[in-house]
Amino acid sequence: MKPKSQNIKSHHGTVSRADRQRLLGQQGCVCWFTGLSGSGKSTLARAVESRLQSMGRLSYVLDGDNLRHGLCANLGFSPEDRSENIRRVGELAALFVDAGAIVLTAFISPYKADRDLARSSIGDADFHEIFLDVPLEICESRDPKGLYKKARAGELKEFTGISAPYEAPEHPRLRVAGDLSLEDSSEQVLAFLQSAGFLQAPAS
Ligand code: ADX
Repeated sequence: MKPKSQNIKSHHGTVSRADRQRLLGQQGCVCWFTGLSGSGKSTLARAVESRLQSMGRLSYVLDGDNLRHGLCANLGFSPEDRSENIRRVGELAALFVDAGAIVLTAFISPYKADRDLARSSIGDADFHEIFLDVPLEICESRDPKGLYKKARAGELKEFTGISAPYEAPEHPRLRVAGDLSLEDSSEQVLAFLQSAGFLQAPAS
């Protein structure tokens, strides 16, 4: 997005992202979990966060329900508001990556164009789209917050999967099947990060 303000300039200090990564002994990146409400994005992100913590790696979870209480408190669920939600998260995640953290985002992020914009803010090499491929029927049968029931009853408008679209990723970097246990899905994510070299200390 082109800045609205004029006469602004980017500043950089003498400490670089590479310096911060060396300090932490890891490489910053984003695991961008996407999927329907109830697909297990937050649960998986938290499980991966906990595994990374015990391995001595700094990670941080950005979660839809949490951010909508603060940074995104002025946004609802119209297509425009969801786009703005995801744009802010993409920019925020890019800053965390610059700080050297492994960011785990848990947002429905239903629109491909919004995810693509986040990818371009973060950089393709550091943006790992992870699709929680859990069918609507399963998410609806779980209905942990009772929202599907409300959406079916017409009490909740623009609900993803019921009255608002979900554009599934066509070529995610990782696809997590809905019938995997939490342990197996976190293992799959960690194995991916390991094989892609994100858990190694950067070359000095
Ligand atoms: S996103 O579409 O903009 O990416 P986000 O992940 O931040 O959504 O928030 C989704 C969460 O908000 C859901 O897990 C659910 O708890 C809650 N929610 C409330 N209303 C809706 C709605 N209309 N559609 C989807 N999720 C909703």
